[in-house]
Amino acid sequence: MSWIISEAGRQLEKTIDFGNKFLIGNGYFGYRGTMEEYGKEELPACNLSGIYDQQGTAWREPINAPNGLYTQLFVEDEPHDLRTGEIVAHSQQLDMLRAIHQRKTVFSGRAGKVTIESDRFASSTDNHLLHMIYSFSLEKTARVRLVTGIDGDVWDINGPHLFDYSYYSESRTIAVTAVSGELGHKIAVADTISLSFEGEVRIFETEKGLFRQIEFIAQAGKSYHFTKAVAVYTSQDVEIPLEQAIKASFSANKTGYKLAKSKHVEEWKERWTMSDVLIEGDEKAQLALRYSIYQLLILAPQHGQTTSIPARGLSGQTYKGAVFWDTEMFMLPFFLHTDPETAKNLIKYRIQTLDGARAKAAEYGFRGAFYAWESQENGQDACSDYNVTDVFTNRPMRTYFRDKQIHISSAVAYGIWQTYVMTDDRSLLLNGGAEVILECARFYSSYAYYQAEKKRFELVDVIGPDEYHERVYNNAYTNKMAAYTIDIAVKALEALRDVPDYREALIRKLDYQEDMEQLAAMNAELYVPEPNDETGLIEQFDGYFKLEDATVEAVRSRLIDPKEYWGGAYGVAADTQVLKQADVVLLLTLFKEEYTEEVKRKNWQYYEPRTEHGSSLSPCIYALLACDIGDPEWAYPYFMKTASVDLTGESKQFAGTIYIGGTHPAANGGAWMAAVLGFAGLEIREGKITVTPQLPEKWQKMSFKIQVKEDVYQVEVTKEGGNIWKQ
Ligand code: BGC
Repeated sequence: MSWIISEAGRQLEKTIDFGNKFLIGNGYFGYRGTMEEYGKEELPACNLSGIYDQQGTAWREPINAPNGLYTQLFVEDEPHDLRTGEIVAHSQQLDMLRAIHQRKTVFSGRAGKVTIESDRFASSTDNHLLHMIYSFSLEKTARVRLVTGIDGDVWDINGPHLFDYSYYSESRTIAVTAVSGELGHKIAVADTISLSFEGEVRIFETEKGLFRQIEFIAQAGKSYHFTKAVAVYTSQDVEIPLEQAIKASFSANKTGYKLAKSKHVEEWKERWTMSDVLIEGDEKAQLALRYSIYQLLILAPQHGQTTSIPARGLSGQTYKGAVFWDTEMFMLPFFLHTDPETAKNLIKYRIQTLDGARAKAAEYGFRGAFYAWESQENGQDACSDYNVTDVFTNRPMRTYFRDKQIHISSAVAYGIWQTYVMTDDRSLLLNGGAEVILECARFYSSYAYYQAEKKRFELVDVIGPDEYHERVYNNAYTNKMAAYTIDIAVKALEALRDVPDYREALIRKLDYQEDMEQLAAMNAELYVPEPNDETGLIEQFDGYFKLEDATVEAVRSRLIDPKEYWGGAYGVAADTQVLKQADVVLLLTLFKEEYTEEVKRKNWQYYEPRTEHGSSLSPCIYALLACDIGDPEWAYPYFMKTASVDLTGESKQFAGTIYIGGTHPAANGGAWMAAVLGFAGLEIREGKITVTPQLPEKWQKMSFKIQVKEDVYQVEVTKEGGNIWKQ
């Protein structure tokens, strides 16, 4: 059973939630878990990866393709629609093992009981394809009108983005193309169907859609079905997307649903063989962890795509479909350990967007690479200066995420270096990786101030991971990560010594000679806040301990509106020690070997009651550090929180008045980290793989695979110890 996620009953109030929870995808698109008959009010979406558009001055966001699965069944002109019909039973489920979404609804109407079932999957073997089989049966013989086609009237947060719709139909294939308003991207969706029955077919178009209507008399008790192969292409993929989409959907239909499904299922089985993590003794944790892994697998850029993974995955346009530090710091470890090729693709996205990062640094008067806080294609920053709307005045609030969250560049450098070290693939450094690291280091050296009287470099006026405290000085995490970036820049230059020509050419190209001296100075003199000798505490930033020491509950009780933003200039948390998310604790987790257990424990205990976990990135880090200090029972609730965030739907839905719901791939990645790096205590150092188990009470055993360079290892862990062997 722990492969199935299911819900029963109509539960219309959860329509948006279920759209996220039952998401399918294949890296190229995500298709929300909505019903086939739904219109844009229910937020269906075929959300495309890496293709964006802007409407007027509204936020740029990814494009939702026309909905190729749209289908509505009328029996004696009565719509059989989950929203309005009389329902006898309804269930929706996700089979994670096979990555198939299923729905079954029994309606009661003029033709007695009418049962509708559908299975759909986002093909894992050709990520332009979406397949569906839709079947129905009636208790009494009746006239049926089936409408199925491509609905271009799609859900948009800041749209509409698609214009100039044009239509095509030939035999069993129909297609819709549209052009995006800002950049003129062409989007084409084609759909070919095969019917198990005959009927009178009429093609009709609406302002933004093309549909077929098939009418016939359905016999009592007989089962009817049709299959649909939907293909999506854009002008970013091919020159004439319409042609390609038609071709792909036609040939997929010819291959047949059954064969397409069996190939898809085979591919998924293979993925699970490598990425599943088994937990014995805790069904609930098993299901939640698998679900987290499922979410990561449906987002992984496949087939050579060099897009990255947005903060809300492919569940819609929330967070502008933008890529944050979430990818490198929270998702990358899963891919690095189970699918290094995908990890490399994610890294390539950052290498390809280096020019955008350079442009951003220059815009603020700095040198080097200042990566986008909310990165879209070409690395431009989608984060606006007014990123939150005040709930009281409805005015956009000035926030400094874009200008001051400088730790983003260190996350990029960290990700590249981790990938290089794990895979030992020098081509990553030679094909742009080293250049990115050097440019990130240069950015920090250009951002830093030398405080002569203190004889040290400082990073002033920044925002650390805790976004509730803006424009602080010497955020410990940021300073430590900047120091790390400088350190790896030095190491990268060292690593290139045996390719002297390349090294020289790179230094020349970047005009880096003087920077190298500056890096050496910074390496020695960049201030990194240390644990206090008496308390063992690391101060999150200069002056943090002087802020009001209110509890999270006290701060929450000061809210006038539940959607109110806690940070910014006047937020309820801003002048208190309440923090949004793991900050010092994240630093201690990443650099755990540099701090004593006592320091880690004291900081965990100090910061934990003061953390609001207003970001889904937070609980997993508390779980990880708790495991590291030998307290798996402290870690367990945080693990469950991170692993079930998209199952329960219990997450923040608003920042000010802005809807931020969707799936949470960073938390999903965090669940994998908490399980494998936390509870199992997996570590790989200089090629040596070890485990230090800290299993929660209920867990008897964990087993999983990891890949290190070319080798795959099986790892088994019990409370007593672990076994690791090469496969
Ligand atoms: C968090 C950031 C995170 C972003 C996207 C924000 O709420 O504070 O750290 O990158 O969400 O997940």
